[in-house]
Amino acid sequence: TVVPVILCGGSGSRLWPASRESYPKQFLSFSGEKTLFQETVERVVGPDFDARPIVVTGSDYRFLVAEQLRALGIEADIVLEPGRRDSAAAIAAAAAIALRRDPKALVIVLAADHAMPDRDGFIAHVRRGRAAAEAGRIVTFGIRPSQPATGYGYIKPGAELTATPGANAIEAFVEKPDAATAERYVTEGYLWNSGNFLFAASVFLDELARLEPTIAAPVVEAVEKAAHDLDFLRLDPETFMMAKSMSVDYAVMEKTKLAAVVPSDFAWSDVGAWSAVWDLADKDEAGNAADGDAVFMKSSGCYVQSHGLLTAVVGLDDVVVVTSRDAVLVAARDKAEDVKKLVVELTARK
Ligand code: GDD
Ligand code: MG
Repeated sequence: TVVPVILCGGSGSRLWPASRESYPKQFLSFSGEKTLFQETVERVVGPDFDARPIVVTGSDYRFLVAEQLRALGIEADIVLEPGRRDSAAAIAAAAAIALRRDPKALVIVLAADHAMPDRDGFIAHVRRGRAAAEAGRIVTFGIRPSQPATGYGYIKPGAELTATPGANAIEAFVEKPDAATAERYVTEGYLWNSGNFLFAASVFLDELARLEPTIAAPVVEAVEKAAHDLDFLRLDPETFMMAKSMSVDYAVMEKTKLAAVVPSDFAWSDVGAWSAVWDLADKDEAGNAADGDAVFMKSSGCYVQSHGLLTAVVGLDDVVVVTSRDAVLVAARDKAEDVKKLVVELTARK
């Protein structure tokens, strides 16, 4: 079996004011219809994925997740974390559950907050990585970088694995390098880690136990002691919160020798900032894009999201305007990343 695991815990603060701590970006729609979380779930139902998906999320989001699944008519195991312990712990919990279902289970991990409009393209790449995962590799999907962004993991691909063609060895995995290093990596042919992983549940758990025992042990125990609550599975709070908080990239991918990469060219965006939302959107001749009620005049390259509040932009280029019930954001499109810092400042002021 291939068990889809959907990581649904992040906060997406760079998409403020649409994305909030209480309603993060994976639960929002950027294509007008389904939310990023719903699109993610639909990506992994079908013949290639013969097992019930596992959604790992924070306890606070349980009703949002349940409601958005219900709207799709898709059932999943919803695993609740008592608090955030980052992605290594979240993945470990899901892997332990998958392993209980089937000792040979493969797991495909997906971030709930990425846009990947070419579903078939993605599935084709997953198929390419399957043999390597079955042979004990922790498989990543490497995207050709479009700029030296510092918010990604960088993968130096090695030679194609002869025993399991379709996947390549990894010579180095570096999470979130500084700007100068990222620049060098782009010229040297490194790939971005897309944040999706394919592996045997047992392989991942063994590797995590070896590399970061203070994550693996408490999480496995928290799964053993988990309690059913309505349709939810609540991880045991005491043990789970003892796990070290660390992302899978630092905990496993930078250190493991089992990593492999499927060089990938499916359409992918982690919708990291409003500039990425503009990138994904349909634009008019002047390069303006709107979600909701917007009028543009003598403007170009702008993005507006405004529902129920008519927003007019006159004589501006490359500007983002997002309105919500209690806040309005006006930002230069090329400074959209800084919204993250803004949210830190706003939170401190409260
Ligand atoms: N359930 C749960 N619990 N999910 C979590 C938690 C947690 O504590 N922490 C993070 N996640 C989920 C997020 O919701 C997201 O779907 C995914 O794990 C990745 O976490 P991010 O916090 O968004 O990581 P990142 O974007 O900084 O970096 C990762 O993704 C990049 C691609 O977008 C890394 O894997 C990078 O190497 C990669 O390039
Ligand atoms: Mg992310």
